[in-house]
Amino acid sequence: MINARRFASVSLLAITLALGGATLAARPAQADTPLSGRITSATGEAMGGVVVSAKARGSVITTSVYTDPAGNYFFPPLPDGNYQVWAQAVQFERAINTVTVGKSRQQNFVLKPITDRESWIRQLPGDEFLAALPGDTPEDFRMKTQVRKNCTGCHSASYVLQHKFDEEGWSKILDLMKQVNVSGTFPRPDKRITPNINFHQKELAAYLARARGPGESSMRFNLQPRPSGEAARIIVKEYDFPIEDNHVQVNDGSDWSLGTPSETGHMAGVHDVAADLDGNIWIVYSRPSKVTSYARIDAKTGAVKHFALPDRRGIVAGSHGIVRDENGFLWFNLARRNGTRTRNSNKKLGCPTDQ
Ligand code: HEC
Repeated sequence: MINARRFASVSLLAITLALGGATLAARPAQADTPLSGRITSATGEAMGGVVVSAKARGSVITTSVYTDPAGNYFFPPLPDGNYQVWAQAVQFERAINTVTVGKSRQQNFVLKPITDRESWIRQLPGDEFLAALPGDTPEDFRMKTQVRKNCTGCHSASYVLQHKFDEEGWSKILDLMKQVNVSGTFPRPDKRITPNINFHQKELAAYLARARGPGESSMRFNLQPRPSGEAARIIVKEYDFPIEDNHVQVNDGSDWSLGTPSETGHMAGVHDVAADLDGNIWIVYSRPSKVTSYARIDAKTGAVKHFALPDRRGIVAGSHGIVRDENGFLWFNLARRNGTRTRNSNKKLGCPTDQ
């Protein structure tokens, strides 16, 4: 009975949080006036669907909202502090300013269009790159399919296609890609190459050079409209996860103009994420680590609690996937290496309904 009641009230909290954007947008003038503003283009038009992000100095949480059709944005109440606030839209330059929440609360931005094609191409997500690849002839369609099938499992299409290479350059990249494993380890431990990339290497290199080479490009971009309606009423919260061994990630993806980041700054350990019924976040971690088998992120403060289960190699056991069942229990798998064999075990985590 207690469990059932707790479950009901906690779910309600989750729904209220999910609808928070709509509630705030409809009633912005509450006691604690949120950070808000208006986004216009250089020619003075209101810009809807622009992403506006805010991060307090020293904080690990980035909160983002979207502008409404009149170009207005409203943040949920944020703790007082010095915030970096920035606005981004594809094909426009990023605008950024420092705002002291608690004093000034209105921050308008004027976004300037990006005229250099390569500069806005670098902002694009993977689906736009894939859609723009030539595919009108049967031969091109076959190569487009090969790119989608072979090149988007280990990294996104935007990571691959943000740079240009000539045919020889693409072929050299394929030489490497057909041998690395998902972590980029070369050569693959089983010493086998990926037959599909190997078989299509010559055709793929020529095709990729025609699309993303130094010459005239056969890519045709037909960009999706910016988000609108209900889709643009959500609030997105992103949490920085601590990077081990003093590695520094210069591009964490928050500035689109820098392109799709590499994972080489050890940013990629966080594999899957699930929320518990208190609204906190649990992550599973799939890269070799000395401190994280899995971890909990406090959704309010961003504080991270690491859980470490020993392995035999001087590092901790890794984990990979996590799901929440209908009773609120979180399940994840744990990979421990026992000699040369990897043993996967399913583990259950406690949750509020378990008490
Ligand atoms: C088995 C995994 C895997 C597959 C499949 C794969 N890649 Fe990669 N690729 C990687 C890894 C790992 C990196 C390095 C990622 C990083 O630094 O974040 C990489 C990096 C790259 C880069 C960046 C090179 C640079 O220096 O800028 C390009 C371009 C690339 N891959 C192209 C491709 C193409 C084209 C295909 C499909 C034919 C492909 N990859 C398939 C694993 C893979």
